[in-house]
Amino acid sequence: MRILILGGTGEARELAAVLVAAGNDVLSSLAGRVRDPRLPEGPVRIGGFGGADGLAAFLRAEGITAVVDATHPFASGITANAARAAATAGVPLLVLRRPEWDADPAWEAVADIRVAAVSVRDWPGDSVFLTTGRRDLAAFAADDGHGFLVRTVDPPDGPVPARMTLIMDRGPYTVAGETALMREHGIGLLVTKNSGGPMTAAKLRAARDLGVRVVMVQRPPLPEGSIVVATVPEAVRWAGRQGTGSISE
Ligand SMILES: NC(=O)c1ccc[n+]([C@@H]2O[C@H](COP(=O)([O-])OP(=O)(O)OC[C@H]3O[C@@H](n4cnc5c(N)ncnc54)[C@H](OP(=O)(O)O)[C@@H]3O)[C@@H](O)[C@H]2O)c1
Repeated sequence: MRILILGGTGEARELAAVLVAAGNDVLSSLAGRVRDPRLPEGPVRIGGFGGADGLAAFLRAEGITAVVDATHPFASGITANAARAAATAGVPLLVLRRPEWDADPAWEAVADIRVAAVSVRDWPGDSVFLTTGRRDLAAFAADDGHGFLVRTVDPPDGPVPARMTLIMDRGPYTVAGETALMREHGIGLLVTKNSGGPMTAAKLRAARDLGVRVVMVQRPPLPEGSIVVATVPEAVRWAGRQGTGSISE
């Protein structure tokens, strides 16, 4: 059995660590978007496959017998490609997705980043905290009516808002730290994506405590028919059922 883990998340690294420690043949894949990525244990390849067809060819050429899509909940392109490629190549596919954050009735839930930008544009306050990632900054670039505190892992490389203060950081974050940051910058509105997980959840608690309004971008839907688990142990058990390898938890 040879397992491909599509990664770029903490869950992908945890899964690789467990499967490698149990002596399995595992290959992790990263997109190569982050300059200095946290690398999983075991063999790693970096870079795109060239669409769904490229990924299907890769699965065949590498003798991959199972794929776990443990990519970020908003990485919908690779998730769609994985579904198509796995079907084409006849390889079983599991989606490992951490649960969403529990919805707070005070949040404004929006379908995508463009709707979030419209909501911000219409907001009468001044200071906005954006944690939606550097590639989503373009949606806010035309908004010169607000000041934006922007937090990203790597520097932005596309259009950005005119009035922007940039912080580069990757978490995990604490409630005390997030509270201090939002106070320091006089934040009245937080825009974030429903990524889920504990690493970046502190800002939501801080926002609630400070009375900061929250615009929450909802997750894109998964491909129809996806088999989904929420935790690494469930993914390990699924992998164990795909072959007779030495998988254990
Ligand atoms: N989107 C986010 O908010 C976010 C946040 C944290 C981490 N990440 C991680 O960053 C990576 C890129 O995210 P994205 O939103 O740019 O992805 P995306 O829009 O879904 O994918 C765009 C393209 O990047 C390549 N790609 C993406 N993930 C890959 C992987 N794990 N291995 C090899 N190629 C990959 C694929 O290129 P080809 O078509 O050439 O194969 C894919 O078509 C993902 O692996 C994701 O887990 C994303």
